[in-house]
Amino acid sequence: MKESKIGVIGGLGHIGLIQAACLAKLGYKTKAYDINVEKMKGILQGKMPFEEPDLADLVIETINSGLLKMTSQITDLEEVDIIFICVGTPSLSNGEADLSQVYAAVEQVAHNRNKHCLAVVKSTVPVGTSRKLTKYLKEHNLSEKVTMVSNPEFLREGSGVTDFWEPARIVVGGEVKEAAEKVAKIYAPPGVPIINTSWENSELIKYASNAFLATKISFINEIALLSEKVGGDIRVISQGMGQDPRINPMFLEAGVGFSGPCLEKDLKSLIAQFQKVHRKASILESVLQVNEGQRQGLVEKLQEQLGNLKDKKIGILGMAFKAETDDVRQSHSLPIVKQLLSLGAVVTVSDPWVKTAKQGGLSEAELPGVEWVSSPYEAAGGKDAILILTEWQEYKELDFKKLKALMLNPLIVDGRNLFNAKDMERLKINYLGVGI
Ligand code: UDX
Repeated sequence: MKESKIGVIGGLGHIGLIQAACLAKLGYKTKAYDINVEKMKGILQGKMPFEEPDLADLVIETINSGLLKMTSQITDLEEVDIIFICVGTPSLSNGEADLSQVYAAVEQVAHNRNKHCLAVVKSTVPVGTSRKLTKYLKEHNLSEKVTMVSNPEFLREGSGVTDFWEPARIVVGGEVKEAAEKVAKIYAPPGVPIINTSWENSELIKYASNAFLATKISFINEIALLSEKVGGDIRVISQGMGQDPRINPMFLEAGVGFSGPCLEKDLKSLIAQFQKVHRKASILESVLQVNEGQRQGLVEKLQEQLGNLKDKKIGILGMAFKAETDDVRQSHSLPIVKQLLSLGAVVTVSDPWVKTAKQGGLSEAELPGVEWVSSPYEAAGGKDAILILTEWQEYKELDFKKLKALMLNPLIVDGRNLFNAKDMERLKINYLGVGI
């Protein structure tokens, strides 16, 4: 067992639970603090609060080993040496990050301390936040108990556990280099580069990384707009580009665009940070604009083929923001379905991991009248068109003869470019992708 005792605030969230379970697996006595007791009860019964490959086994193993404990009492963290803050920083209406949970967590840490600790901000926070938190602690005579360290996470939903074990780099920021180094050494695998820098650099590395990933996606989606007008296949274009190691093949898949809990939120927050210092984030604003255009473009494809969508029956395949996740909350599927409903379409949705609105954390009122069915074939039955929004493996293996026989009209608009237009032509299915 390792000597440092660790706490994780927001310990049952997407980032916090992965952080807590993996640190416990490394041999640290780790306490996952969270206010959500329901989640705790579920976990003790082996039910994870969200789908994440490899996480359930890790959590159960480390709870059984006694290294991972869960608590809703902040006083249980009085003795820990290092506290990772993994609370949410949702978007405010003006795009800025809401830091109330981060400040509340630092307050809790500072007021419930028997010994000095490192407060490690894993949550994505605007540049300058760690410095502001340090100033806040000084003003409240709490700084001798808490030293702030920035340590942004780069975990992707659906591969978070793998991303924890195989980080491309560890970024830490702080005024006390040794403190930052200590945090990095807690979990840096041998040979992985550690960037030990200022708070500001660390915080901006996170935003700039996510913004660049989003930029790559909007870039290829913009090229797709031209590609489909000139008979190109954006998948081949991406492949041709990606062979250049300076470009690399990743994050060059054109389609419905990016969504989910991070990229869009972080992009909006970064743009707001530019505005705060009276600078224009021209590229980043275009990245957002292109992304919104992708969703609109899919609806327009349906309108081009079906005319007025009023009373047209549309089947949606995939609600999650990407495959291997059950995260629907910030998925592009919501605005797209809402737009179809506003145009009077009758919408049926299906997703392998999200079987009902409730399971997706949605109220019935959010998608009024939408029918949730359990299979893509059910979603296709009697429909005027199918719209594919998530690149689930099971959709790649669909039996198109069966699907076509079920449909009223053989139209497939594919927001993930899963299929070959020629195959569809042979089956006499009207197939439209993005940039193909
Ligand atoms: C992202 C970052 O990848 C991760 O490093 C950060 O810590 C959190 O935000 P995540 O949002 O979980 O991770 O998923 P990601 O795999 O980045 O996908 C984001 C969205 O972009 C998804 O909707 C995905 O479908 C879409 N995407 C991704 C594309 O449209 N094209 C691509 O080529 C890649």
